[in-house]
Amino acid sequence: MSNPSTTPMPATLADLVHRLDQARLTGTREEGEEVGTVSTRRYTDPAHWQQEQASLFGQWPIVAAHSSELSKESALPFDALGVPIVLTRAADGRARAFLNVCRHRGMTLVRAGGPEPAKAKPCKALVCPYHAWTYELDGRLRHRLHAQTFEGFDPATLNLVELPCDEAGGLIFVKRTRGEAFSAAAFLQGLDAHLHWMGLPGMTVFRKVDRVYAANWKLTVDAFLEGYHIRVLHRETIYPFFADAYTVNLHAGPHQDSLVARRAAFEAFSPPPDRYALCKLATPTQLVFPNTFLIWHPDYVSLIGMFSPAVDQVRWVHTMLIPPDRTGEDWNAHWEKTFQLIEQTVFQQEDIATAVAIQRGLTSGANTDFHLGRLEHGVLRFHRGIDDAIGGTLVPAGGGACSG
Ligand code: FES
Ligand SMILES: [Fe+2]
Repeated sequence: MSNPSTTPMPATLADLVHRLDQARLTGTREEGEEVGTVSTRRYTDPAHWQQEQASLFGQWPIVAAHSSELSKESALPFDALGVPIVLTRAADGRARAFLNVCRHRGMTLVRAGGPEPAKAKPCKALVCPYHAWTYELDGRLRHRLHAQTFEGFDPATLNLVELPCDEAGGLIFVKRTRGEAFSAAAFLQGLDAHLHWMGLPGMTVFRKVDRVYAANWKLTVDAFLEGYHIRVLHRETIYPFFADAYTVNLHAGPHQDSLVARRAAFEAFSPPPDRYALCKLATPTQLVFPNTFLIWHPDYVSLIGMFSPAVDQVRWVHTMLIPPDRTGEDWNAHWEKTFQLIEQTVFQQEDIATAVAIQRGLTSGANTDFHLGRLEHGVLRFHRGIDDAIGGTLVPAGGGACSG
């Protein structure tokens, strides 16, 4: 089996593996230092939702796509942040983002085209479907039909409206609000080294689903920040492969990286030389704050964006990424079966169904707060990060103040 890593494991990840080994050897679960509560209003209050929209989804870099989704000379519409955005990659290879809005009379430039998740369209320019104003992939207005009839309008002021966009670790980030450039690598605060070592930049899309469910987005985030529920909720599906709540976790600013121990780690353990070996011992799970997860199954990775179109809705965008040496006809049946198990059974019928049930119960008033134990400290940390971001004491690393 090919080794996706070409460099030694990053020291921070190696330390996490060491902690997993210690937990296994001593039979001791790593626990948080304190219990805590989160108010249930956070999942139902429109005012809180507005604050999240203004700060987190408005001002923070958000993962819009995997790098492989945007090949050179293509454009990919992205509307999960509530404004129409188009990502482009010109011949220079750089990923850029623009408001997907024509500067003539506002038509959408690149349309998703149908109910399926949007795919990048190969193109050398963006041509508006209304009157054919044409833009370079770097946003400059190239051509206006009957341009002589627009005297007095300076074409230099009619380029596409650019949004901050950068790429690191195989992920394309965008900010919904105009402002200065930011560094995606700096934003990741060390996680980019983990993602490189894991081979994320070289992976490729097998399947993508994009659906809306009746649950606040944070309920689905919560579900992936603790291993406490695996033994119960996933008893019939994945628990046979996992140890009971042995998770080690590190913080990289507001981001989190966890190793959720598998039973195999308790049977035979040696320092993993590559991603495949690591994923036999544990399921690495990264939260790229605030709303993106990477979940490393034994031979592929789930990239999941959890967006928030309304206070009681999550838009779940799950992209299944596979290794580049396992593509093609021979592999399709394998990936299809795996995808069915994870997306349709484990995620939809177990994790998401639970989030939807919780949302329904919130309106009953049974709970004013949820009670988190010390095996759920990752959840507590996530919610504190949200409070700090809304309060302005937590700002994204990597710079790029927003102007809007
Ligand atoms: S609205 Fe785009 S060319 Fe007219
Ligand atoms: Fe789960």
